[in-house]
Amino acid sequence: MFAGQVLALVGDNGAGKSTALKMLAGSLRPDAGSIALDGEHVRLAGPRAARALGIETVYQDLALADTLEVVQNVFSGRELTRHGFLRRVEMTKQTESLLEEFRVKIPSVFAQISSLSGGQRQGCAISRAVSGGSRVLLLDEPTAALGVAERRNVLELIKSLRDAGIGILIISHNLPDVFEVADRITVLRRGERVGTVPAGDVDAGDLVAMITGASGNAAAAGNS
Ligand SMILES: Nc1ncnc2c1ncn2[C@@H]1O[C@H](COP(=O)(O)OP(=O)(O)OP(=O)(O)O)[C@@H](O)[C@H]1O
Ligand SMILES: [Mg+2]
Repeated sequence: MFAGQVLALVGDNGAGKSTALKMLAGSLRPDAGSIALDGEHVRLAGPRAARALGIETVYQDLALADTLEVVQNVFSGRELTRHGFLRRVEMTKQTESLLEEFRVKIPSVFAQISSLSGGQRQGCAISRAVSGGSRVLLLDEPTAALGVAERRNVLELIKSLRDAGIGILIISHNLPDVFEVADRITVLRRGERVGTVPAGDVDAGDLVAMITGASGNAAAAGNS
């Protein structure tokens, strides 16, 4: 994947998409193969090591604390303090400008996560992920279970992060979403990479053929 580009990872259920993402996120150790960042081999000892390199992940379950406010979630685990006291005003300000920058519309940064819609939660989770200045963003099914308008907002958010120069990996079952945001598409089947193709070179039919292993598809030979 490249800075300022979106790579989509597609494949049938059980193809290994989430597994591949977890290896990039540092939460699973690969048995084989290697991970490179800026052309340098990196060994990701754990999620913390990945984060230290600027690799942030939003898992499908979002891992937000439902009973806490948006501000508390955004700064969870890296609260701003001074002399041992929480800098609540500063954290509130930063959260507000972050959400404004990414056009995530919520009633208030003091709203409980549980009171927000799916799209608003996704927006908060993604904003939290990029708030620390990440370079690589890994998203597992960010538009699943969203309504039409919310899906639109999340896709726009992904595009604006891409334009800000972040390299984005998105797992999605939704091919129209994939075609809308992806520069390149990697297809996995049964734990193996079938191929990587420029999004402009294939249509949904080609992708389905690659995903299911139907033959007679020239694009499946693509690689990179
Ligand atoms: N390269 C691999 N080698 C061995 N096992 C693998 C490999 N990739 C995935 N698996 C195994 O396959 C199973 C399903 O993988 P995973 O959850 O990543 O699929 P997925 O593509 O995310 O599916 P879904 O679309 O249902 O979320 C897991 O048990 C995982 O351990
Ligand atoms: Mg999965």
